[in-house]
Amino acid sequence: MKILDPRIVREDFPILHRKINGHKLVYLDNAATSQKPKQVIDSIKYFYENINANPLRSVHTLAEKATEVYMDSRKKIAEFLNAEQDEIVFVRNATEAINLVSFSFPFKPGDRVATSYIEHHSNLLPWLELKAAGIKVDVVGVDGNSELDMAYYSKPRKDLRLVAVSQESNVTGTINNVKEIAKDVHKNGSYILIDAAQSAPHMEIDVKDIDADFLVMSGHKMLAPFGIGVLYIKNSVQPIMKPYLRGGEMIKSVKLDKITYESPPQMFEAGTQNISGAYAYGVAVDYLKRIGMRTIQNYEKGITRYLYNEARKIEGIKIYSGKSRQYGSIFSFNVDGLHSHDVAYFLNKKGIAIRSGFHCAQPFIEDKLHIEGTARASTYFYNTKEEIDIFLSELKSIVRKYGRR
Ligand code: ALA
Repeated sequence: MKILDPRIVREDFPILHRKINGHKLVYLDNAATSQKPKQVIDSIKYFYENINANPLRSVHTLAEKATEVYMDSRKKIAEFLNAEQDEIVFVRNATEAINLVSFSFPFKPGDRVATSYIEHHSNLLPWLELKAAGIKVDVVGVDGNSELDMAYYSKPRKDLRLVAVSQESNVTGTINNVKEIAKDVHKNGSYILIDAAQSAPHMEIDVKDIDADFLVMSGHKMLAPFGIGVLYIKNSVQPIMKPYLRGGEMIKSVKLDKITYESPPQMFEAGTQNISGAYAYGVAVDYLKRIGMRTIQNYEKGITRYLYNEARKIEGIKIYSGKSRQYGSIFSFNVDGLHSHDVAYFLNKKGIAIRSGFHCAQPFIEDKLHIEGTARASTYFYNTKEEIDIFLSELKSIVRKYGRR
């Protein structure tokens, strides 16, 4: 396996050379969004200067080129997930992808759907709202180590149609064994949707090996621009799905009394899409593949281990993450006596960017962690051990100056 040198990759990320409040930026808010390499930034300019046209419609040279790069990105993302090209639907983000499934899946009153306590609101609200349509909604529990109640999935439930679960929690970094869940879910004749928004930037994903029915990702968390994401829908599942948005380029034929829809993915891509975003997403995936997802994961494991080992020595903080059997590069904590927003404020004064608050997972944070939020530092492959040291040193200083000991 290749060894990743963060000092080399950092050269590709112009923003990492910025100063914030007179200090070198230490960007540890990667779970909210990743920074973008110049290859991705340049690709957006290149698209608008050389390619810009509406794909799949006109037959002129630019339109054909736009179609070609759009389809090429679909192919790159399919390869990234070990999927087929026509299983990849471009959407705005993971949130839109999950909402799409909640609208387009053929639920009927009396059906049951399962989400879990550890989900982001985007994988919770679309399901909770189905109650109004007579669908039963189970919220699978988590234990004190933020591990899912795996026994729920193995128990047969005749009315359970779909299980929605994240591969990695955005609060605790808990990595759920989605392959095992998929096996149980399929044994019982249900479908599984995997929210890979937090996991896809950091690990290899093989939808065939997992046997996912649906899998969602947000481009902006994995080097691509905002406003572009992916919904994977397994080929064999596509025929049961209804269209979501209706409009241009998702139909085979329209008569006033009869509409014939295209097959997926086109059926789910009504209207003009974010073509420059899709193009740049392909460039982002090329970048990740060039480094190698295993190399990225291996490097991140090293700095995460270091961060936890050192943080656990600090008195006056409480750590909420890193308790599960497997976890990613997310470190959620609080300083005794301080609100998480205050911790984020003090760190920002020193150029260190983290996120604080509920992290769009209010039921988990309130009902399971029994707190009002956490401070969350999240790393990516361009973060260095030196940056972790700066973060830890400032954290100790905050504990010393403002914490309750
Ligand atoms: N879902 C993103 C986060 O966890 C925005 O911060």
